Amino acid sequence: MAHLEAYKHISPDSGYPVTLHPAFNSKIANHVPPEQIRQHLEVDKDRASFADPNKEALLKVARKIDLAESIGSVLENVQLSQLDSKQLDELALLVTERGVVFFRDQDLTTEKQVELFQHFGILDRHPAQKDQKHVVIKGSTQDHRQIANYTPWPSGDFHADTSFEINPPSYSMLRMEEHPPVGGDTAWLSQYGLYDALSDAMKKHVDGLHAVHTSRLQYDTILDLWGAGPNRPPIDTHHPAVRTHPVSALKALNVNLGFVTGFAELKKKESDYLLQFFEHHLHSADDHAVRWKWEVGSVAMWDNRCTVHRVIPGFYTAGSRKGIRTTVFGEKPYFDPNSESREERLNRELAASKTKVNGNHATSEIPA
Ligand SMILES: [Fe+2]
Repeated sequence: MAHLEAYKHISPDSGYPVTLHPAFNSKIANHVPPEQIRQHLEVDKDRASFADPNKEALLKVARKIDLAESIGSVLENVQLSQLDSKQLDELALLVTERGVVFFRDQDLTTEKQVELFQHFGILDRHPAQKDQKHVVIKGSTQDHRQIANYTPWPSGDFHADTSFEINPPSYSMLRMEEHPPVGGDTAWLSQYGLYDALSDAMKKHVDGLHAVHTSRLQYDTILDLWGAGPNRPPIDTHHPAVRTHPVSALKALNVNLGFVTGFAELKKKESDYLLQFFEHHLHSADDHAVRWKWEVGSVAMWDNRCTVHRVIPGFYTAGSRKGIRTTVFGEKPYFDPNSESREERLNRELAASKTKVNGNHATSEIPA
């Protein structure tokens, strides 16, 4: 952290660093990104749309264990490297339903991971990613609570990967190549569940809003803290605060704490307080969370359109962490006011099945 520009400017009164406006931080002011801001991309139909709804080819070889009711499953007895295209489509469908799917003891190499992931779409590149096809994810030993004093991006908080893009990623995959025996877990939250956890009045309010997703804060932090040069200029994008998932057709909350700075339709203080509420909402959602303990050879594949995630900060005293991440472009987020939430669909299906059973005089219900 000592290499942050702020540490060159110490207050004579407090003895602590004085933060600089980015225009006067030479690392930020002098950087000229080599690439242009991206334009809207029309992506192919999601591979999950082609899958057998029962996922028979995949579940014939893999044993599925759900980790929490709302989110997260493990697939056992299967090597990703052996899945055929039909099984990969079914895996994508499972990921859109469960949010994140985990594997242990995988034999994937980086080359094979890249090849496999191209099945799901066009490979995306993180703004700090130099390799064309994958990005290396390491564990940060920095005190994220203190870093936040001197560089603006809340890097340790819940986010959907690069949600500021016009076409944010649909799927991401992270495969761990090095990992200590303890520390560096990742937590995911279900955005289907977080939407359902709102009151009806709040749902109506948020349904009509656009969240401001920005890469500006990350841009400054990449330059000053990471010492790397972002490929692209910073971008602000207004995405629906509630989005409709293109495969499940379910509503999912589209607010995250890593990249969302406010709501386009609201006045500043209204926006600030709503975002503050969402900070509480996300951080108190134990019933819509799953936490994964990594090992070397573990893999997670998640859907950024219906989940957010964060690495649980660790000290990494027992060793380093190195993962290989691949992502693919998703569609431009949209909101269909006629789409339903996961809970609404469950209730509707439950009511329909009861009507059907009662209609057949197979059972009768006695009101309690
Ligand atoms: Fe991430």
